[in-house]
Amino acid sequence: MTQDELKKAAAIVALEYVPEGAVIGVGTGSTVNHFIDGLGTMRERIAGAVSSSEASSARLQALGIPLLDLNQITDLPVYVDGADEIDDSFAMIKGGGGALTREKIVAAVATRFICICDASKRVECLGVFPLPVEVLPMARAYVERELTRLGGRPVLREGFVTDNGNLILDVHGLRIADPRRLETDINQIVGVVANGLFAHRGADILLLATPGGVDRMVA
Ligand code: A5P
Repeated sequence: MTQDELKKAAAIVALEYVPEGAVIGVGTGSTVNHFIDGLGTMRERIAGAVSSSEASSARLQALGIPLLDLNQITDLPVYVDGADEIDDSFAMIKGGGGALTREKIVAAVATRFICICDASKRVECLGVFPLPVEVLPMARAYVERELTRLGGRPVLREGFVTDNGNLILDVHGLRIADPRRLETDINQIVGVVANGLFAHRGADILLLATPGGVDRMVA
């Protein structure tokens, strides 16, 4: 199986976790794109979706799935999203697609975070994948210095602007032994909008696609 076939397999299993008549939180990325396509086949059975990016919104709209404003939602039973890395405690690095801030917000509101990914994303220790950090443009140089002080090597994502009009620093060289601590420490840097560590709000369910099938794991 190709990696994309594995992503699709995980996404299809995630459709089983979509409650009838509910609003669904939708992440961003190539794995989630398969999930969105699946949602399109059952759109009359859901109330709509809250999206984490302009890209996902466009895909949802193209399939006729109503988009809802997060501020009007009081009940979001599930949020489905991919990950760049996920560890044994279901802490994740996300934001490879640059949508980390909105992903974090929608995930915070959701009752259950369902992570869908192929087995290559499973790691013992987070940090091989560079950690994305969204920063306000005027704070870029200051935040770079502070991230370097924390032991990382921040690299500006060239030519990229987030949906929120900000920049992304991809932080290389971190071996993240304590994801919760680092998530908090980076959030303390003035000018950081959000960082791609999802440790305080990790996944609740992991649907991990392997060539042998999709493993379902509960935190
Ligand atoms: C988007 O900003 C990310 O958080 C994605 O969820 C993550 O990068 C996984 O992407 P793929 O599904 O494309 O691997």
